[in-house]
Amino acid sequence: MSPVSVQQEQLPQECREVAPSVVTLDTWRDNWDAWVNKYIQPGIREGYFDLVVEQLHDDIYHFPLFTYEFCAELIEHTEQKANWTKDRHQFYPTNDVLLSDLGLQQMYRRVLEVFCHPVARMHWKLEGDRWMNTMVDESFVARYKAEEQQSLAVHSDFSDYSFTVGLNTDFEGGGTWFPRQQILANPRGGYCTLFPSMTHPHGGRPTIRGTRYILVSFCRRANLYTDNPG
Ligand SMILES: [Fe+2]
Repeated sequence: MSPVSVQQEQLPQECREVAPSVVTLDTWRDNWDAWVNKYIQPGIREGYFDLVVEQLHDDIYHFPLFTYEFCAELIEHTEQKANWTKDRHQFYPTNDVLLSDLGLQQMYRRVLEVFCHPVARMHWKLEGDRWMNTMVDESFVARYKAEEQQSLAVHSDFSDYSFTVGLNTDFEGGGTWFPRQQILANPRGGYCTLFPSMTHPHGGRPTIRGTRYILVSFCRRANLYTDNPG
């Protein structure tokens, strides 16, 4: 009697092997290449920065970073896990949740290091190990909705430079308004915007329908005024 070959799809769901290639937001340590292939947009994932990074205005850049799958899974994960805070920032509080509270900080730090910081370093000539070794980030998901927090007054981030990633498209209004530059950056669907803090005060324009989700990172040198290598 010859052995019977059974295809995985012929088995009941509970008997199927868990495919080792299943990629989720938190499997980045297991198979980085597969993770990048699922969640990072082509172009940026190959390191073709000069092909995909566009300049919106002086020192405001944007580029396609995350795939639809990343954005949808992050929103779902956030809404399931988040304990939204409204008073984390003293002066311009957003309705937000830290990535560290979502268990995603280390994952996003890797993304920043590989795909985002290089854009800043390239455009602003941030050369040397100290720009890498001293850089920290405060990253969080913020939520704007018409019936909750709709907008945010003009302010400067506590950062050297910031990234904002738009996670969805099903809303009206919104966007990051830079009054000095007269530019509205309204990244959607995984687009990432980069700008320096001090010269680029900005605010969140009102979201008038739906919910706008953005992923924000304040990136700063942790030891700017204390590190003295002699
Ligand atoms: Fe801001």
